[in-house]
Amino acid sequence: MTKRVFVKTYGCQMNVYDSGRIVDALGESGYTSAPDPESADLIVLNTCHIREKAAEKVYSEIGRLKHLKARDTDRPVMIGVAGCVAQAEGEEILRRAPAVDFVVGPQNYHRLPAIVSATGNGRRPVDTDFPAEDKFDHLPRTGVRRIRSQGATAFLTVQEGCDKFCTFCVVPYTRGAEFSRPVAAVLAEARDLVDAGVREITLLGQNVNAYHGAGPDGRDWGLGRLLEALCAIEGLARVRYTTSHPRDMDDSLIAAHRDLDKVMPYLHLPVQSGSDRVLDRMNRRHTRDFYLAIVDRIRSARPDLALSSDFIVGFPGETDADFEATMTLVEEVGYAQAYSFKYSPRPGTPAAEDSDQIPEAVKSERLQRLQDLLNRQQAAFNTSFAGRTMPVLFERSGRNPGQLVGRSPWLQAVQADAPQSLIGDLANVVVDRVGGNSLFARLAEPASETPFVAEATA
Ligand code: 5AD
Ligand code: SF4
Repeated sequence: MTKRVFVKTYGCQMNVYDSGRIVDALGESGYTSAPDPESADLIVLNTCHIREKAAEKVYSEIGRLKHLKARDTDRPVMIGVAGCVAQAEGEEILRRAPAVDFVVGPQNYHRLPAIVSATGNGRRPVDTDFPAEDKFDHLPRTGVRRIRSQGATAFLTVQEGCDKFCTFCVVPYTRGAEFSRPVAAVLAEARDLVDAGVREITLLGQNVNAYHGAGPDGRDWGLGRLLEALCAIEGLARVRYTTSHPRDMDDSLIAAHRDLDKVMPYLHLPVQSGSDRVLDRMNRRHTRDFYLAIVDRIRSARPDLALSSDFIVGFPGETDADFEATMTLVEEVGYAQAYSFKYSPRPGTPAAEDSDQIPEAVKSERLQRLQDLLNRQQAAFNTSFAGRTMPVLFERSGRNPGQLVGRSPWLQAVQADAPQSLIGDLANVVVDRVGGNSLFARLAEPASETPFVAEATA
């Protein structure tokens, strides 16, 4: 009988990608995907540690799953904890959660078949080393069936880890030092994806624009050059990348936004704060003016570029004036979308030790004001598309019959009445109405004759 694995994913897009690779790795041990935890023989929780209560969430999820273990003693369910909580907590998870059978850190997924076979009869392995070998060299290629099951868009991790050490962030500790996959490996994986029907690839990395992978010419390639090579893959229609650091937006990457039509006009470029004093204490290694200058340069290269960012409010020592500086930066840039968070002290990070922590009520009030502004900007951005024609990549059926849902070049969700045959394809639509979470549109012309226009301009 085949065994089945259910992976529950928390956190960022890299974890979404990793969960797929966990399934790939376990395929070597005879596992296929289970649709839900109830029908699984193995449940893996792929966890996130970036903000507060992450570990607590994992323990309560384990509490909820425990009953499945007791259900059928002939077919015991195994529970594994993977991801960044696994990396950060290690052995502690086994102590606190007797239901957990193994713990595996993000760098060790290629070892899962060995870990799973070493589990049982009282053995509960913990593998959170940073191994000398590269996990990507040892993970099996993703099969066509799994790629197809995910549809027309896919993530592809090209870079992992971070050497920047922002003082609030756990990533350098949970994901380790910065590492870039070789160009040839990235291109081979991209070709596999495209051959299986993927039309849009999002390159992932904690610091994706610090990418510096070994090129076929023996030199290190930056992200700009990698994008150029990817865009040459026939059949691939769209490329995105996330998450970037302002310091690593180099000339060739900015030129890629100007020169490569397949690179979508959307950039997630976290700034965190608009105050130089806070940026310095965060060890961001850039100022407000540096960020604004980069934004200007990218917008000159690609005038219809939409920007997104991450913000932290209530960082230790943040004054009212510092917070106002964040608000004016947001006014100045104008974001299409953004994520904002209250600062949350993370164990082991320098800022957690600071004595001038900000009261919760102040954090909440600042977050509310910032989010109101960001929401207004997002609504204004979306409203500006009413009546416009844009190409949409249709990804799946919508809620109502006859409706498909897809994405615009600017990552907006778009709903349109369109035939099922368009799933996985690009088509031009006209935006009729702008809703709170999506644009409502109609096909610009009969589907079979819809010419594909180059990306619309703002
Ligand atoms: N507190 C609040 N937000 C954080 N982030 C990272 N660490 C923390 C923290 N300790 C946010 C940053 C980052 C995003 C992924 O999560 O804004 O860009
Ligand atoms: Fe964390 Fe800063 Fe590295 Fe981003 S750049 S992963 S925020 S340490």
